[in-house]
Amino acid sequence: MVSNIRGGETGNIQAFKQTEVSRVCQGRVHATIADRRELAKTALTPGELIDTSIHLDESTEPVTGQDMFALTEICHDGFIELDVRDIARMLQARPGDETESLFACADRIRKRFVGDSVHIRGIIEFSNYCVRNCLYCGLRRDNHKLSRYRMTPDEILTASQNGIQSGYRTIVLQSGEDPYYSAQDIALIVEGIKSFRDVAVTLSIGERARSEYAAMRSAGADRFLLKHETADAKLYQQLHPGASLKTRVECLQNLKSLGFQVGSGFIVGLPGQDISTIAEDIALLKLLDCDMAGIGPFIPHPDTPLASYPAGDVTMTLKALAVARQALPYANFPVTTALSTLRQDGRQLALSCGGNVIMPNITPAKYRALYEIYPDSASLKDPEDGGIREIAGMLKAIGREVSTTKGDTLPKERRSIPTVDSNNHERMR
Ligand code: 5AD
Ligand code: SF4
Repeated sequence: MVSNIRGGETGNIQAFKQTEVSRVCQGRVHATIADRRELAKTALTPGELIDTSIHLDESTEPVTGQDMFALTEICHDGFIELDVRDIARMLQARPGDETESLFACADRIRKRFVGDSVHIRGIIEFSNYCVRNCLYCGLRRDNHKLSRYRMTPDEILTASQNGIQSGYRTIVLQSGEDPYYSAQDIALIVEGIKSFRDVAVTLSIGERARSEYAAMRSAGADRFLLKHETADAKLYQQLHPGASLKTRVECLQNLKSLGFQVGSGFIVGLPGQDISTIAEDIALLKLLDCDMAGIGPFIPHPDTPLASYPAGDVTMTLKALAVARQALPYANFPVTTALSTLRQDGRQLALSCGGNVIMPNITPAKYRALYEIYPDSASLKDPEDGGIREIAGMLKAIGREVSTTKGDTLPKERRSIPTVDSNNHERMR
């Protein structure tokens, strides 16, 4: 399967590669670990990112698991980026030492590139109406068992103000894909939130025309979340009737070009997915130059066509997160609610495998249970203020701290490769 990706048969990644600005070395080089180590030391211009297109060749040198993960740190030292084959290999880390080593490496890279602070974003789920029919999601339009709700702009503003008073410095507005709210409506809500305090506003409201995104951006929206869900175009079409991966990627590119910090992400354990799909998912995050990415396990919902499929694997989700952290060292990776739903200690686990963001639910209690993407969401247990104080205590216990900044990603032009023990990112922003 992996050779399919390199052979370009799936086409997705190759097509998106055209948009990449990095220098590409031509030709296939049979690079051993030692070669790559040497390459990492050679004189590249500092700050230049290089896609070597050099692949570890199985026939040249057997790579033991732990070596592989050490390699990624060498790569970052030398401005060499992981390619999709490296990514696929890393995802295959075996249980035990290899997987532990992968997680430990991701944790070191997280500390080195984004530090120990954890950004806390308050999320308000303001409408559970959705025009889409994603096969896996409880909000899909054909789920007639679900009672639908919409919050009024005033209710959204009040919930945002409460969140800001509780200490949140980012408000995330999330909904199903609900055209009831015009771009102008969203823009007015964003302006209202911004008038309360200097906070960041993130939107997560699905696909819209570029002009609509532009209006929201002009109103002051800082970030936009739109997961690509799966980088396999065929699987995408099967799971999202009437939609296409191409349109999804176009939306993400529009958002990026409008100056949003852009978040994508994907689901681990979707029926029809395999390791090579997950490798493509991570490679796509990289090609889109995502500022943020949410990676969570699939959870079956009884009132969807995928009701009888098993939930995604927690360890594979953590491995995907750990590899994604290494592929995108500067990005913000939230602990997904889906992971916390499958594992009570999901937050701590994800924070130790590359995660650096928590997104507590601050939706008014009366609406919470109705935002049922999947059953028994961990967010139902969050107190009305999202439990921000309890989170601060939990972070302290694991040697992390609540961020004092809005938690923007570092702009590309200000990125350099930090030395191993530098941990000054809060100051840099
Ligand atoms: N399991 C896990 N994640 C899901 N999502 C939707 N349905 C499910 C499910 N059954 C995720 C998608 C979507 C986000 C709102 O929730 O990634 O982007
Ligand atoms: Fe709607 Fe998003 Fe659920 Fe798809 S995943 S049905 S777009 S809420």
